[in-house]
Amino acid sequence: MLASNQPPTRKEEHVRLCTEEDVRYRSKTTGLERYDFDYVALPEIDFQEVTPQTTFLGHTLRLPLIVSCMTGGYNGATAINAALARLCQRWQLAMGLGSMRSLLESHQQLESFRIARDQAPTIPIIANIGASQLTRDVRAEDLESLINLVGADALAIHLNPLQELLQPEGTPYFRGVLAAIEQLASVLPVPIIVKEVGAGISGRVAELLLRAGVRYVDVAGAGGTSWAGVELKRSTTDPSTNPLAELWDCGIPTADCIIEVAALRSSYDFILIASGGIASGFDAAKAIALGADLVGVARPLLQVYQDGGEEALERYIANWELQLRAAMFVSGAQTVSDLRRVRLRPRSPNHNR
Ligand SMILES: Cc1cc2nc3c(=O)[nH]c(=O)nc-3n(C[C@H](O)[C@H](O)[C@H](O)COP(=O)(O)O)c2cc1C
Repeated sequence: MLASNQPPTRKEEHVRLCTEEDVRYRSKTTGLERYDFDYVALPEIDFQEVTPQTTFLGHTLRLPLIVSCMTGGYNGATAINAALARLCQRWQLAMGLGSMRSLLESHQQLESFRIARDQAPTIPIIANIGASQLTRDVRAEDLESLINLVGADALAIHLNPLQELLQPEGTPYFRGVLAAIEQLASVLPVPIIVKEVGAGISGRVAELLLRAGVRYVDVAGAGGTSWAGVELKRSTTDPSTNPLAELWDCGIPTADCIIEVAALRSSYDFILIASGGIASGFDAAKAIALGADLVGVARPLLQVYQDGGEEALERYIANWELQLRAAMFVSGAQTVSDLRRVRLRPRSPNHNR
């Protein structure tokens, strides 16, 4: 634990706010609730044959699920990353690490990131850095050495202009980011995944990234965790007088991002990750049917772990798997590739009646 006279780090505050306060979007949803599966009364498969496994970064995953990038860089993060990594190892899921910005200055907290590879020797692990860091003298060699130090299979770069804008100590420096990503994509020995943090990547932005050589896009859309909300809560300005308070709900719903970005498949070959408010295996199934290859989940997993520890995480993922397999069965999909071809029906506006 931190010595009591040290102020909490930024990351520590983020983790606390994400688990102790309501930081979800307030007036916006993922949009996934607008769809229903096309129920297939003649699926011609046995439930036990439904296998949601997939491949990602050269590994076979038992579920099409990434534990999205969250933490690292302070003492308490070691236990969280260890628990998440053990979960991923048991289930063969992919795992993202939190921003490694602090490691560019000092390796004091390296263990809080490295623990993931120690606990999960055979899963894909994703290193992480903020896009605004790329415009501030970060060299490809430095990033490569961090990737090696934590044993990562890919580097996620997060685009978070909204968060940086609202963050009290933020760095809203985004001039030159696309060129920096293009350059990194051509020199790094591992793939780059470009993600948002919950405000969404549109089709237009995704196309710029794909043209720059990126082959993995994680839309991280709106409807789940609001990072504007987290930073507005951290701000010392009274919310009732903060002129930017309305930005809490800024962002593109996850379902809209998936549809826009998936439309680029006819012109580009890439992996589409859907995240941002994926709350269940049913949401995951809909996201894949809308066009994603796999999905990512962040805050719900952290919350489950903080409330109930590793046993609760295990139960959560077991239920998640059951929901995904059930959705696949009732829509006639035996595999994840079949699920990608499943049709969704727009729900009628009065479905709640
Ligand atoms: C506590 C916490 C810390 C996060 N830190 C990072 C980070 O360091 N880098 C990053 O790319 N995304 C970070 N995220 C964003 C998530 O990866 C994800 O994109 C976002 O929370 C939306 O997903 P969700 O609705 O499932 O939470 C963090 C999320 C949480 C909950």
